[in-house]
Amino acid sequence: MTDTNSRKHFERARQVIPGGVQSNYRKSPYHVPVYFSHGKGARLYDIDGKEYIDYSLCYGPAILGHSNEHLRRALVRQASKMYSSGVNTLEYTAAAKICRHVPCAEQVRFACSGTEAVYNALRVARAYTGRNMVVRFNGHYNGCLDSLIGGIVQDIGCPVPVDGERGDDTFSQLSNTLGRAKHAFHDSYMIEWNDLEALDTLLRQYGDDIAALYMEPVMINLNGCLPEPGYLEGVRELCTRHGVVLIFDEVVTGFRMGLGGAQAHFGVIPDMAIFAKAMGGGVPVSAFCGKREIMDVITRTEVIAAGTYNGHPLAMAAVIATIEELEKDDGAAFERINTLGNVLADRLRDRFRRHGVPLILQGFPGAWTIAYSEAGKIINHRDSVEQGDTWAKGLLFSELMSKYGVIVQARFCTSAAHTDSEVDETLQCADKAIEEFKIETG
Ligand SMILES: Cc1ncc(COP(=O)(O)O)c(C=O)c1O
Repeated sequence: MTDTNSRKHFERARQVIPGGVQSNYRKSPYHVPVYFSHGKGARLYDIDGKEYIDYSLCYGPAILGHSNEHLRRALVRQASKMYSSGVNTLEYTAAAKICRHVPCAEQVRFACSGTEAVYNALRVARAYTGRNMVVRFNGHYNGCLDSLIGGIVQDIGCPVPVDGERGDDTFSQLSNTLGRAKHAFHDSYMIEWNDLEALDTLLRQYGDDIAALYMEPVMINLNGCLPEPGYLEGVRELCTRHGVVLIFDEVVTGFRMGLGGAQAHFGVIPDMAIFAKAMGGGVPVSAFCGKREIMDVITRTEVIAAGTYNGHPLAMAAVIATIEELEKDDGAAFERINTLGNVLADRLRDRFRRHGVPLILQGFPGAWTIAYSEAGKIINHRDSVEQGDTWAKGLLFSELMSKYGVIVQARFCTSAAHTDSEVDETLQCADKAIEEFKIETG
């Protein structure tokens, strides 16, 4: 990889920025970060003029590709009128669009990042139920909140996570942190996803104290596990039975799995949901939404949900323009994303098979996560750990792809801007990356 100029800038950055990057997850154990100068369509260009096909899409947001003309114009138009925050007419236009497409959304509030939307949703759920505890899932990433990142469970009879990490588990190591508030985990249970029995047992025992169950409807941040048949329906039923607010974290699946997100795709409607990433096409914005009856705790000002930049006009312009593009021609963008994503996955799987490499792609056409599995399938975090270094080896393959000019970052996210010929090019790079992967992994 040509990283001469990037290295120079990285050295300067490291003087004034801890780790040289703005998010720990942008640090690579293998090379210095690549500094990009611009992007167009599915391509990114670094400061040395090197061109890349981009499947990271800034970790998911760039659903329309880079520099989409409709989105860019909407931003420029808004910036020339007003770029500081305040009550504006775009807010309800953007909220109405979300309500039109997302089944659980009767009302919407905006924030700036996924993490912020998550804490708002949890506060609302606690206020609505008058309960305290939250259920979350091993191997899910739900942002950087003290209470939701990391933790390991020592006693599955009472799965309250504690600080720590597992030596055999890359995901656990990467999501552990010092500096956490001492009692951060006291208010949550952490169980295995895709295991209805575990949830049933937990809710029978502690259901009366549980305010919310918080989950990614596809475990896209680790191994891309899909819900097993009947799992989401079972979770829905158990939450209803025990009066628990079911919250889908659709930060990745939202406006990527389709206009209505995973809930519309699977036909399982949560009580609340979180959106960010693709919803703004690349601009920092998030939303939490849900049934009116639940969101009413904000209407009655029983709950504080605030933020200087919430509903920022540039963010609202971005949400409206992005959804407009996704709505166009009866959802032609998703037709393209899904067709191309499937072609890419089929052809990659064929490559892995022919090379005799047990890499797998799990997820959905807009986001395939790379994993390493001799068993051919991984269903949850426990399964992932039992099968060995499934995720770390997937990450290694991503790194090798970057070397050949394809940016992957653990997931192949396709955009409306990717083309057939870019898929062909990607496969040629994959051949080289797979050869090297075989050597590196022995
Ligand atoms: C599923 C999920 N939830 C929440 C978040 C946190 O979003 P943000 O990074 O915008 O705070 C992420 C980020 O990657 C995510 O993937």
